[in-house]
Amino acid sequence: MDTLTIKVNALEANESFLRSAVGAYASRMNPTLEIVSDIKTAVSEAVTNAIVHGYRMDPKGIITVNCEIAEGMLTVEVNDSGEGIADVEEAMRDFFTTKAHEERSGLGFTIMKSFMDKLEVYSEPGEGTTVKMEKKLYA
Ligand SMILES: Nc1ncnc2c1ncn2[C@@H]1O[C@H](COP(=O)(O)OP(=O)(O)OP(=O)(O)O)[C@@H](O)[C@H]1O
Ligand SMILES: [Mg+2]
Repeated sequence: MDTLTIKVNALEANESFLRSAVGAYASRMNPTLEIVSDIKTAVSEAVTNAIVHGYRMDPKGIITVNCEIAEGMLTVEVNDSGEGIADVEEAMRDFFTTKAHEERSGLGFTIMKSFMDKLEVYSEPGEGTTVKMEKKLYA
């Protein structure tokens, strides 16, 4: 077994902390810098969504990140217990955003999908959201 769980408050400062923490966790397996960079980018998008959309910047919200490395594959789950997503398929579409007025471009899920090998999103309105991503650590 090789797992990591981190729980933090939904503070903007924790976006860079979680991005670096998951990057450091994956780096123990000596993947290329490009793979680590892809993972950090995807984690950053998922955590930003939890803070901005899930908890609407309320730092009382708790973000849980679960990671596992098994057979050369990193699995990362970013969970919030925030407002949730009514239509996940629509939310995952390129350029879809509910915060256009805040200069969001609606490309977070697009980035997570293209930088990782697999992306799954589980969400219920009023319950929260879990983003599960996988990345092979070796080519
Ligand atoms: N954790 C979440 N909780 C609630 N809603 C979410 C969550 N993550 C995403 N969403 C919804 O899905 C939409 C699309 O997310 P995505 O990250 O692709 O774009 P964005 O965050 O709006 O813009 P960008 O990521 O480009 O700044 C969001 O506008 C929001 O409505
Ligand atoms: Mg986003």
